[in-house]
Amino acid sequence: MQGINDNQLLKKFSYINGSWHTSETNFDVTNPATGELVVAVSNAGVAETELAVKSAKTALKMWSAKSANERASLLRNWFNLMMENQEDLGRILTLEQGKPLAEAKGEISYGASFIEWFSEEGKRVYGDVIPAPSGDKKIIVIKQPIGVVASITPWNFPNAMIARKAAAALAAGCTFVVRPSESTPLSALAMAELAERAGIPAGVFNVVVGTDARGMGKVLTQHPDVAKFTFTGSTSVGKTLIQQCATTVKKVSMELGGNAPFIVFDDADIDAAVQGAVVSKYRNAGQTCVCTNRIFVQKRVLTEFTEKFTHAVNALVVGNGLTEGVVIGPMISEKAVNDVKKLVDDSISDGAIVHVGGEKHTEGRSFYQPTILTNVANDMPIAANEIFGPVSPIIAFDTEGEVIEMANNTEYGLAAYFYSRDIGRIWRVAEELEYGMVGINEGIISNAAAPFGGVKQSGNGREGSKYGLDDYLEIKYLCMGGLDK
Ligand code: SIN
Repeated sequence: MQGINDNQLLKKFSYINGSWHTSETNFDVTNPATGELVVAVSNAGVAETELAVKSAKTALKMWSAKSANERASLLRNWFNLMMENQEDLGRILTLEQGKPLAEAKGEISYGASFIEWFSEEGKRVYGDVIPAPSGDKKIIVIKQPIGVVASITPWNFPNAMIARKAAAALAAGCTFVVRPSESTPLSALAMAELAERAGIPAGVFNVVVGTDARGMGKVLTQHPDVAKFTFTGSTSVGKTLIQQCATTVKKVSMELGGNAPFIVFDDADIDAAVQGAVVSKYRNAGQTCVCTNRIFVQKRVLTEFTEKFTHAVNALVVGNGLTEGVVIGPMISEKAVNDVKKLVDDSISDGAIVHVGGEKHTEGRSFYQPTILTNVANDMPIAANEIFGPVSPIIAFDTEGEVIEMANNTEYGLAAYFYSRDIGRIWRVAEELEYGMVGINEGIISNAAAPFGGVKQSGNGREGSKYGLDDYLEIKYLCMGGLDK
C-alpha cells in the first residue's frame, strides 16, 4: 500500500480470539476523498460476532485474574506500539476516513493517550471500608470487572473512540469486542495487530468487521454473555440500542449526538473567540459530536466577530487529506454532503443568508465548502439539528438570559463553549448551561484526563479521566459478621 512502511498493519480480516478470520464475501473500503478502493475486507456477520463474544467470555477469567500491574504493562506496550507506528496508523486513517494527515496523526496520539492513561489508572481501583451499624460487623466494598464489554464505534474517530473504551475496559479487567463502522474498519484492525504484538492475550481484544449492522448489533446488545454495552454514535441509533440492551438488563454507556452552542459575549477577547470557533467548528470537517453547532454573538461585537471569523474561514484549505497544507478534508460520503446541503438550503428558504460558501465543493463529490450563515434563528433547521458538517450558523443575541435560554433549548447536552472575561458571568453561565462539558475561553476540550460525556439525550457515562473506569466496574459490598470476641 502506497506510503505505508509496515504493510502488516493493513489487515483485511476480523480479529477473533487472537487469529484473523476470513468470511465468504468481501466489502469495499473506499477513500472518501477520491472514491477509490483502499482495500476489500472480509465481511463478517452474526456468526463471527457470536464467536467473538464467546472468545471474550472464555478469556475473561484469565484476564480479570491478572494483577493490575500485569495488565498495565501490556497496555503500556500497546501504547508504545501505537506511538511508534503513528505515521502508518495516521495514513491508514486518512485513507479510509478522509481527515488531513496531521489531524489523523493527532487522533492516533489522542487515542494512544487513553491507553497510557488507563494503564496507569487501572492500578488505582480502590475499595472502601465503611463503619458498620454494630461492632460485630465490617462493611467492605470491593470493585470488580463487570465482564465482557461489547461496543459499536463510529467512523468519525476510527481509532480514538475504540481506544478510549477498550483501554478503560481492559484496565478494569474486562474483555472486549468491538464492531467498528464498516466505513472505517482498517484503523480498528491495525489496532488489533498492535494489541497482538503488545502481548495482549487471545480473546481479550476482538474486532469484528462487517456490513450487517443490524444483525451484529443485535448480538452485541442482546447476547447474555455480554455484561456491558458501550456506543458512540447518533442519538436515534443509541435509543434503539438501549432498548435492545434492556432485554438482558445490560449496563450501558452512550456517547450520543450534540448541538453545541458557542457563545461570544461582548466582553470576550474576540481574536481568541475566533480562533476557538474555527478549531471547534471545522475540526474533522465539522464531523464530531462536540463540534460547535450554533454560534451566538452578542450584538455589540457581531460585526467585529463576523468579519474576523470570515477572514479565518476563508483561509481554510480544502482538499485531499494526504495533500500538504490541507486542513479540511472530505466528508465521509456524498450522502453526508447532501444531508448538510439540505439543512443549509432549507434554512436559506427560512431567511438565513449565505455569508461564506454554501455550496458543494468542486474538489469532489464528498466535499462541502466551509460555510458561514448569518441572520439565523435558533429554530431554523441548521440550528435545531446536529449539522455534522463544516457549516457555522451565526445567531445574534442581546442579553445573557436570552442566550442561555436559546443555548439550552435543545434535547442535546454534550458540549458547550463560551467566551467572556467577566469572572461573575463565567461562573453563572458555566453553571446554567445544561451540558456535560463546557469550554470556557477554550475551543478544544477533549483529552484523556478529562471526563468526556453528555447529559439529556446526549447520553450517559463518562469516558477518560479518573471517572472513566467506573463504567467498567461493579461495586460489591461484603458484610463481614461474627467479629465480636
Ligand atoms: C466524538 O465526536 O464523538 C468525539 C470527539 C472527541 O473525542 O473530541
